[in-house]
Amino acid sequence: MATSSSCVVISDEEQGYDLDLFCIPKHYSSDLERVYIPHGLIQDRTERLAREIMNEMGGHHIVALCVLKGGYKFFADLLDYIKALNRNSDRSIPMTVDFIRLKSYCNDQSTGEIKVIGGDDLSTLTGKNVLIVEDIIDTGKTMKTLLELLKQYNPKMVKVASLLVKRTPRSVGYRPDFVGFEVPDKFVVGYALDYNEYFRDLNHICVISDTGKEKYKA
Ligand code: HPA
Ligand code: MG
Repeated sequence: MATSSSCVVISDEEQGYDLDLFCIPKHYSSDLERVYIPHGLIQDRTERLAREIMNEMGGHHIVALCVLKGGYKFFADLLDYIKALNRNSDRSIPMTVDFIRLKSYCNDQSTGEIKVIGGDDLSTLTGKNVLIVEDIIDTGKTMKTLLELLKQYNPKMVKVASLLVKRTPRSVGYRPDFVGFEVPDKFVVGYALDYNEYFRDLNHICVISDTGKEKYKA
């Protein structure tokens, strides 16, 4: 069982790359500080995660559960790599997909209650190998609550793949089974991660600038 998943660790000292070294949409040129994880590196890491997921989960029907909206890019690319493995291997399994959104009702932060919106009836997960796909684990509170909820439907197995995990003192100690990158406690955007819905239309994962924060603040 994968208890402490290894991943690419991005140190607190990592400076990232100058924006001018990559292609950035012009409408965001003053809203970003640095390119933090270039799109190509995300792809390469995702390809490897696909292999590890298939090794651990590939013995039985997988339901891939995308947590929207932030998870959609990672989900789509991860599944493309898993599909490539399935069509080039002697061993393959069917995979079905579902899409959910989570609304958290956390007036009191200690009782993180969530509501699952959209998706099929959760009873479709019974007896399946469920792969939850997320963009980022920050405190981990929401994921812990979601896992508790899904357990009630008796899936055969539940694993979580998160592209990013934040190193933050606010963490409740939850660690996903498959992690792309561990990142410092900074606000990152791009590759479907947003700041008030902006920056999802950006390929690279970047650090937002003060100008950007001000411009797109809620
Ligand atoms: N970026 C985007 N969304 C997030 C982040 C982040 O750094 N942390 C939690 N949700
Ligand atoms: Mg978000």
